[in-house]
Amino acid sequence: MLTVAACHLANKSDKTVQWKHKYMHQSDKSEQTIATPNFIGMLIQAQEDALSEIASSELSAEELRITLLGAKSELAKLTKQIRSVPEADRPQVGTVVNQVKQTIEETLQKHQASSVKHQEDWVDVTAPGILPPQGHLHIVSQAISEITRIFERIGFTRVRHPEVDWDWYPFGSLNMPPNHPARDEWETFFIDYPGKPGKDPKKQKVVLTPHTSNGQVREMEKGTLPIRMINIAKCYRRQSDVSHVPMFHQFEGLYVDHNVSIAHLKGVLDYFVKQFFGPERKARIRPFHFQFTEPSFEVDISCGVCLGKGCRLCKEGWLELGGAGMVHPVVLKNGGVDTSTYSGFAFGWGIERTYMMKAGTQLDDIRLLYSNDVRFLEQF
Ligand code: FA5
Repeated sequence: MLTVAACHLANKSDKTVQWKHKYMHQSDKSEQTIATPNFIGMLIQAQEDALSEIASSELSAEELRITLLGAKSELAKLTKQIRSVPEADRPQVGTVVNQVKQTIEETLQKHQASSVKHQEDWVDVTAPGILPPQGHLHIVSQAISEITRIFERIGFTRVRHPEVDWDWYPFGSLNMPPNHPARDEWETFFIDYPGKPGKDPKKQKVVLTPHTSNGQVREMEKGTLPIRMINIAKCYRRQSDVSHVPMFHQFEGLYVDHNVSIAHLKGVLDYFVKQFFGPERKARIRPFHFQFTEPSFEVDISCGVCLGKGCRLCKEGWLELGGAGMVHPVVLKNGGVDTSTYSGFAFGWGIERTYMMKAGTQLDDIRLLYSNDVRFLEQF
């Protein structure tokens, strides 16, 4: 605020002198001199006008700063008139000008701070609400949907078969007699049957299904031919490393009809690889042995992380997708299918491994899929 000295100078004013400054008439501007007390009076008036404008204006602090202190402001115009004051008084009047500017500036700053607070307190009840974060399907669920759609386009139907089953379906019905060494390959979890098992030799032991092939004979037992099924389910094995998890998913294709050949199997495998991975990925079929297919194959696909060069995940550039083959006649018989007129093919692949081999996923450890780390899962 103005100092006592400035006010004193102003009060000394000749009562007969009229206010000039912005209220000064155009004709008055040509006047040569302004009495010092009058000039100081004008400055005080300019300060009061500015402060009341700050108090009542809707303008922002920045807009007010330009209006009240800018080059075109009334105060700037008045300041230019300082030459009209007697030379001896100018330093004193200059001090008053600076005090007026400082007072206006300080008031502007207070005004700015209080209007920010005001904005914070203000609630726009018409503004749309903040959406809560929304999750998405797990990538394995996304892969299951995509795989289902691909096979549905060529007439395969998604079916479900038990994930906890009599060991007859994943082993006995698939041409693996009790104590056959092939059973060891699956590293199976056997679980206790609640109560005493009955006399049916097929219903003695219960397992967490180690593969979706348990659905083969179960599907045949429905008695409807031809069969074009895609059985997708959880599987369980005692395994855990960069390419194995103890709980994973497989999709099992089974086609049983008249005159089904290896050519049909290869056609379906090629169709799937092109649809799911893209035309640049390669698949290969190697001779293999499964008890329940004859002939049997392993299906491999070139690794999507190293593109066939060899890396931590694949070691030699190829990743095993799963098995395939022509359904063994014993299995068809176990399902009640007449082998003199019907034949079939089957394949069973891991969903997680299949997804990891897709271009762009760049996963080099299968366990990441089940680590429940949202930072990882959010990327897909
Ligand atoms: C089988 O499970 C056969 N039932 C496949 C089959 C079906 C052959 C029909 C012929 C006819 P295998 O044990 O190779 O085969 O497993 C198939 C695929 O399941 C593997 O290639 C892999 O992709 C996936 N898999 C197996 N074990 C695991 C595991 N512990 N973690 C993640 N994926 C696994």
